[in-house]
Amino acid sequence: MAIPQSFLDQLKMSCDIETIVSSYVSLKRSGRTSKGLCPFHSEKTASFTVYHDSQSFFCYGCQKGGDVITFIREIEHLDYVEALRFLAERVGIPFPEEEQEDPSLRIKPLIYEINRAAAHYFHSCLRGEQGAPGREYLMGQRQLSTKTVTKYGLGYAPPGWDNLRNYLRGKGYSDEQMLQAAVVSRGRDGKSVYDTFRNRVIFPIIDIRKNVIGFGGRVLDDSKPKYLNSPDTPVFKKSRNLFSLNFAKNVSGDKLILAEGYMDVIAMNQAGFENVVATLGTALTPEQARLMATYAKEIIIAYDSDGPGRTATNRAVGLLEEVGLKTRILDMKGAKDPDEFIKKYGVERFKMLIDDARNVTEYQIGVIRAKYDLGAPDQQSAYLQEATAYLSTVPNKIEREIYAGKLAAETGALKEVIRESIDAAFNRRVRAARKKEASDIQSGRLDLYAGKRRANGMAEDGILGCLYLHPDWGGYILGRVSEEMFSTDDTREIYRTMLRLQQEGECTLTELGGALSEGQMNQISGIVARVSEQQLSVTREALEDYIRTLEDYSRKQEIEKVQDLSIDEASKLAQQIRQRKQ
Ligand code: GTP
Ligand code: MN
Repeated sequence: MAIPQSFLDQLKMSCDIETIVSSYVSLKRSGRTSKGLCPFHSEKTASFTVYHDSQSFFCYGCQKGGDVITFIREIEHLDYVEALRFLAERVGIPFPEEEQEDPSLRIKPLIYEINRAAAHYFHSCLRGEQGAPGREYLMGQRQLSTKTVTKYGLGYAPPGWDNLRNYLRGKGYSDEQMLQAAVVSRGRDGKSVYDTFRNRVIFPIIDIRKNVIGFGGRVLDDSKPKYLNSPDTPVFKKSRNLFSLNFAKNVSGDKLILAEGYMDVIAMNQAGFENVVATLGTALTPEQARLMATYAKEIIIAYDSDGPGRTATNRAVGLLEEVGLKTRILDMKGAKDPDEFIKKYGVERFKMLIDDARNVTEYQIGVIRAKYDLGAPDQQSAYLQEATAYLSTVPNKIEREIYAGKLAAETGALKEVIRESIDAAFNRRVRAARKKEASDIQSGRLDLYAGKRRANGMAEDGILGCLYLHPDWGGYILGRVSEEMFSTDDTREIYRTMLRLQQEGECTLTELGGALSEGQMNQISGIVARVSEQQLSVTREALEDYIRTLEDYSRKQEIEKVQDLSIDEASKLAQQIRQRKQ
C-alpha cells in the first residue's frame, strides 16, 4: 500500500494517543501510563492501559492492543486506510489522495454516491405514480406507516430492465461504475447490462456512518426468489454488517434484539423497539457476533419459530456466547415471526414476550416439552427421556441440577433418578471425548507440544520485543533465529514482517498496523506493553537467554517423537495436556 512514510510520520507526531483515546475513554494518568475502563469489553476495574512512551495501548483483560490507528479502527469500525483518513481529518493534515495506488480506495466514495442516488430513486418511485403496487404492498398488506417507510427510506423498483440505469446515466455515471456498485448486473452474454432490482420493494442497507452500502429487494407476491440482496461490493460485506445497526446503536442500554428478517426489524421498530438488528440474508457470522458485543452485553434472539429458525437459534447462541455475550431466546408461541406476532397479539404482549425471554436451556426444554402430550403416561416418559438426554449436554453442573429439579416437579418422577440418569449420560459423553483425544494423540492429530510451546512463548515474545525496541540488532537476530524456530504462524508472520519493515525503513506499531492482522497486532502490542511494564526484559543478556531457549527446544523437538505410545500412555498424556491447558 502506497501510504507515504512522510504522511505516516506527520500523523504519528500529531496524534498523541492519550489525547485521542481520552475522547472515548475516561483515563486516569499515573506516571508514564494512563488507565481506564476498556471500551472493547465490559469490565469493572481498569485494565485498559495507555503507554505514553511507546504510544500504544493494551488491555490486560481482553488482550486487545495497538497504536492510535488500531484504536480508531476498532472503536469506529474502520479499516486501516479509513482510520488514517479519519485521524488526518481530525488533526487537520491533508490526506495524500493522489499517491494512493489501491483503486478500491477511490472507488468506495463513488459507490456510496451511486448507492445514495439509487436509494433516492427507489424511494421517490415508491412515493410517485408508478409506486402504487409498492405502496399497496408495504403500507397496505404489511401495514407500515408513512413514518416507518420514511425512516427506513424504503423504496420500489418498478418493472422494466433499465429504469435505474437510465436515471443514473442521466446523473453522469457509467455502466462500469454502476456495475461496481452492483445496482446493475451484466447479462450472461457478457455485454448487456440491466437493473439488478426489478419489480421489488427495496430495503436500503445503511451502515453506522449513514452510508448506503447495499440493498435488499423483496417480491410483492409469492414468487421466487423472495429476497434478492446486493452481492458483496467494495463497500458491502454481508458478513460484517447488520441491518438497522445505524438505529440500534443509538439506543441506550446493553441489550440488542437479533431478528431473522428485514421485515421483522422494521415491524419491531414501528412497535417502538429500536434496539433490533438482523443479518443480511446470511447466517450469523463470528464477525457480526463481535460487532454486536461492542454495543451490547446481552442478545435476545428473536428468530422464526419454525425448524430452520430453531437451528439458526442454536448456532447463534454458540457464536454469541463465544464472544462473551449473554443470550436469551424469545419463545414466539402462536406466530411464525416477530412481525406476525405483533400484528396478531399487539405491542403489549410482544413487550411481555421480550421481558420473559428465557435462557437457552429453558428454551430447549420448552421446545422438547411442546412435542409431547404430558397427560399420557407413555408420552411423559418419552419426554423425560429426551429432556434428560438434552440436559446431559449442558456443561454447567448447577444448571443441570436445577433443571433436574424442575423436571421432577413437572413429571412427578424422583429427582434423584433424573439426576442420576443425566449424570450417567454426561459421564458417558466425557469418557467418549477422552477416548477420542487418546486416539487423536496416537494418530498425531493432537498437538503434544502445546504446553511446552507456551513456556517457550516468553522467549519468542522476548525476541520480538528486542527486535522492536532495538532495530539495530536486526542483523544479529536474523543470523541466529530462523522463522521456523517460532511456534505459531502468527508469530512467524510478525517476525518476518518486522524484519521486512525495518529493512524498508520504519517499523513501529503504525507501520505494522498496515501489514498485520488484528490478532497479530494484539500480540505485538501486548509485548510492547510488557516491556513498558518491565515484565519482559529486552537487554542483550536477556536476548541471549531467549535464543538459547529456542535453540534447546528445537533440538528436543527433533528427538521426541511420540509414535510408540500405547492407548494407556496416550490417554495419560492427553490428561496431562488437558490439565496444563486449564
Ligand atoms: P417476509 O416474508 O416479508 O416477512 O420476510 P422476512 O423479512 O420475515 O424474511 P424471512 O423470515 O422469510 O427470511 C429472513 C431473511 O432471510 C430475509 O430478511 C432475507 O434477508 C433472507 N432471505 C429470505 N428469503 C431469501 C431469498 O430467497 N434469497 C436470499 N438471498 N435471502 C433471503
Ligand atoms: Mn416474516
